[in-house]
Amino acid sequence: MAEQPEPAERKRVWTTPPNVPLCAETDIADPGSRSFVLQIGEAFFHGFVVHKDGQFAGYVDRCPHQGYPLAIELDRYLTPDGSLILCGWHGAVFEPLTGDCTGGPCAGARLTPWPVAAVGGIIRTA
Ligand code: FES
Repeated sequence: MAEQPEPAERKRVWTTPPNVPLCAETDIADPGSRSFVLQIGEAFFHGFVVHKDGQFAGYVDRCPHQGYPLAIELDRYLTPDGSLILCGWHGAVFEPLTGDCTGGPCAGARLTPWPVAAVGGIIRTA
């Protein structure tokens, strides 16, 4: 059997095709967040969706500081009070619905948006 490559060696992509169903709106608490990995051909897209104040926003799972994926624990992208997105590695914080970095080592930078839309109770790529 062929060996699977380590995740770090897998080809990454930074965008997704539109209209891919991700989950039900009710699958993500408000406030809350969830990780998604989409396989597109032989490549992988890593992103996450935040639910905050009844709205959803998606981002590429890559911190603008050093390029790490943000969450140390699966699906835990928010600060404990649910008010901000947190990069668990060096403490950068981001506004949940805009991705603007408001504190930490990359203040003034911004998460890369991943377009998603909630339609009919389902969150899909947009
Ligand atoms: S990689 Fe996110 S704060 Fe350093």
